[in-house]
Amino acid sequence: MTKDVEDEGERRRVPVLRGRGVALTPLEADDAELLHEWRADPVATHEIGIWPRPLSWLRERVERDIDDNDRDDFLVLLPDGTPIGHVALIEQDIADGTAELYLLLDAAHRERGHATAALDALIDLAFGDLPLHRLQAVTHTTNTPALAVLAASGFVHEGVRRSWCQHRGRRHDAAVLSLLRPEWEALSRPRVWDH
Ligand SMILES: CC(C)(COP(=O)(O)OP(=O)(O)OC[C@H]1O[C@@H](n2cnc3c(N)ncnc32)[C@H](O)[C@@H]1OP(=O)(O)O)[C@@H](O)C(=O)NCCC(=O)NCCS
Repeated sequence: MTKDVEDEGERRRVPVLRGRGVALTPLEADDAELLHEWRADPVATHEIGIWPRPLSWLRERVERDIDDNDRDDFLVLLPDGTPIGHVALIEQDIADGTAELYLLLDAAHRERGHATAALDALIDLAFGDLPLHRLQAVTHTTNTPALAVLAASGFVHEGVRRSWCQHRGRRHDAAVLSLLRPEWEALSRPRVWDH
């Protein structure tokens, strides 16, 4: 086993990006079960707007997403290989230079800075290796942890989409945030390739 390969139960996962205390590895179809558990967390269900679906549906969707060239999905790993979340760069439009972010952490591993570290790694991939100019994130205006993570990663609040979605018996507003390439270039933090 090489130094770059870490055990995760029976499986070995190769970290492709290393951030502050986390690593990212490409999502695989067999991760569907893990995602299914994380998506069942009530906070995730509410904040992401997850419709209850069987594991078989999610597995098919993960397989489709892996084949989709307009998105890149990663599992977030701790240094010992424990999987703790899912981040993705979705709806990539190379012509316009835009993409959107997806972020979900296992409830048992939140509030330790791992989401910000994983997001920074994903952002560095987006601007360092892809010709993107604008990253966008959309989340409920009441999603304090997500707004804190996005702000910590340099995202700028653009505005509010009023009455954006319906959940738990009422309408919710969504905050739109973005990070532009020059803003990322101006950040003084180490890049993912410096770790
Ligand atoms: C959003 C999410 C990924 C954040 O994960 P996390 O592990 O708490 O994030 P971090 O520990 O890296 O950073 C948390 C930041 O939010 C703050 N925070 C976390 N939970 C908080 C809470 N319940 N209330 C207030 N602030 C909170 C932390 O203080 C920290 O801010 P700081 O950098 O100013 O100290 C996680 O809560 C999650 O998976 N939520 C469900 C899915 C979701 O909302 N996805 C985002 C859609 S865009």
